Amino acid sequence: MKERLTIAMDGPAGSGKSTIAQRLAETLDYLYLNSGSMYRAMTLLALREGGDPANVSALIQLAKNCRIDFSNNGKTTLLNGEDVSDALRTPEIDRAIADIAKIPDIRREMVRQQRRIGENGGIIVEGRDVTTVVFPEADLKFYISASVEERAKRRFTEQQAKDIETTLERVEQEIRERDQMDESREHSPLQTAEDAIVVDTTSMTINQAVEFVLNRVEES
Ligand code: DC
Repeated sequence: MKERLTIAMDGPAGSGKSTIAQRLAETLDYLYLNSGSMYRAMTLLALREGGDPANVSALIQLAKNCRIDFSNNGKTTLLNGEDVSDALRTPEIDRAIADIAKIPDIRREMVRQQRRIGENGGIIVEGRDVTTVVFPEADLKFYISASVEERAKRRFTEQQAKDIETTLERVEQEIRERDQMDESREHSPLQTAEDAIVVDTTSMTINQAVEFVLNRVEES
C-alpha cells in the first residue's frame, strides 16, 4: 500500500458510506472529509442570511466569501470559524439543500474547498461526486450502495434511536425522493465512476463492509 492515499467514496443516502469512511479514517489515521456536511453548512449560511433564495448571484457571492473547515477529525464542521456541527442535520436544511447544491458556481466553490483540504493526500472523502468530479484522480474509488428497502430500515432505526417520530414507509419515501434528486441533478449528479469498486452492503453488517473496504485498500 502506497503512503498517504486519496480515497474517494460516493453513494446514496443510507448506504453506510459515512460510517465506513469514518472507521477507515480512524484505522488508517487519515483525514475524514464529509462533503455533504460542506453543502449543509453552505445551505445553513444561505438560510441564515435570509436573502431571496432566487437571487443566485448573492448566493454565489456568499459561497465565494465563506470558509468551511473541519476539525476533530471531520466530526466538527466550522463555518467561518464557528462550530455549526449540531445545526446541519435538520429538516429545514434537508428541504433547502437541493436548491443550493444544484447551482454550478456554488458547486465550483465547494469543490475548490474540498481540494484545498485534500491537497496533501492521506484523506478519505465521501459524497455524491467525489469520485467523478472532485478527485477524479483518487488512488482508490468506491461506490457504496444498498437496496432502498435496506437503507430505509437503517435510517428508520437511527431515527427511532433519536426519538424522531416517523414511519418506515415515510423514511423509504424520503430516501426515494433524495435518490431522485441526487441522481437527476443536471450538474455533478450521483453516478458510479467507471473505475470505482462497487460495494453492495445490503446483506453486510457494518463490520463486514468496513473489513471489505479495508482489505481492498491494503491490497492496493
Ligand atoms: O451526505 P449527505 O446526505 O449529508 O448530503 C446532503 C446533500 O448534499 C445530498 O443530498 C446532496 C448534497 N451533496 C452534493 O450535492 N454533493 C456531494 N458531494 C455531497 C452532498
